[in-house]
Amino acid sequence: MTEPTPINFTRGVPANESFPADELISAATAVLKEQPAAVLQYGPATGFAPLREWLAQWQGVEPSQVLAANGSLQIVEFLCFALLQPGDVVLTESPTYDRTLTMLRRHGATVVGVPLEPDGPDVAALEAAIRRHRPKLFYVIPDFQNPAGATCSGAKRRRIVELCEQHDVHVLEDAPYRLLRYAGAEEPTLRSLAPQRVLHMGSFTKLIAPGVRVGYLLGDPAVVAKVAKVAEDTYISPGYVAQAITWEWCRRGLLPPQVERLKALYAPRLAACRQAIDRTMPDAQATRPDGGFFLSLTLPEGVTTTAVRAAAARRNLNLADGLAFFPEGGGERFVRLPFCALTPEQIADGVGRLAEAVREVRG
Ligand SMILES: Cc1ncc(COP(=O)(O)O)c(C=O)c1O
Repeated sequence: MTEPTPINFTRGVPANESFPADELISAATAVLKEQPAAVLQYGPATGFAPLREWLAQWQGVEPSQVLAANGSLQIVEFLCFALLQPGDVVLTESPTYDRTLTMLRRHGATVVGVPLEPDGPDVAALEAAIRRHRPKLFYVIPDFQNPAGATCSGAKRRRIVELCEQHDVHVLEDAPYRLLRYAGAEEPTLRSLAPQRVLHMGSFTKLIAPGVRVGYLLGDPAVVAKVAKVAEDTYISPGYVAQAITWEWCRRGLLPPQVERLKALYAPRLAACRQAIDRTMPDAQATRPDGGFFLSLTLPEGVTTTAVRAAAARRNLNLADGLAFFPEGGGERFVRLPFCALTPEQIADGVGRLAEAVREVRG
């Protein structure tokens, strides 16, 4: 019997066919021809100055409030150096982005999870955790959360910033999926609700391509300066070639049409994922995201993600380890489904295999 072709519901990667390669070739040629020394020389660790200025204008802040780095994940690491001492408590949603957990732990932070609900973190649990642990930082992904796919409601956003103001907790808002909304109305960023309190991160890795490795931080100029010092001590200056290409591409007005193309590509993939779940696992508890890269499932009572992963692997369906997203345990029945890099046909096939794996484990 021939093996079924492998299907990967593992990491949240963009679709290869989404990359605007020709536009990037043209932008690269222009910046290297027009200002080769500025692009190829070392420079300030805050990022390629024209990109920093473009980001500031786009986001309605001063350039001194912006740092452009090699992707957004490393900004988390820089913030750990700049803001945390080993042993400091950091709150995250539970579940949360697994690589941030790795980063926080390797800096000696004690990570405490706040349960995530379909409309954002449980704010009563957040308040209790703040009172009990006196955390330095709350790391939160309010839009189309990785890994659950949840989006934080407006009411909870207001409560989060109110609590963090009241108890002097830094907020780190990680928003790489924010622009990828396929339905519904946008909620305000946490930063717009409390600009002095909230550090905001965005990234071009899901909008252009991971290969550009361009992410950015918006924050108070004093924090930006501290982070820039850590960045300088780490890599002198970030990858200006990528930042210059990104700047030229943005300056040419290519971001809005790219976002529309991404929505047109990904919305049917999300719909295919929902339909396949409704068809093959009608009793599954699935999140209902309106955008982003992820949908997640809570498996039926008594069915563990570890057993389902093994049963899925026998069907050449690869799943991420659901347990890794939970800072303090739990998640035994949690499955993340990143749908963007698969075609609707692959999604239907993959969810079908998942349903079979769940049936096998249920017995
Ligand atoms: C929530 C979240 N933050 C950060 C990142 C990393 O982004 P970057 O590629 O800009 O480092 C990801 C990537 O999957 C993510 O899901």
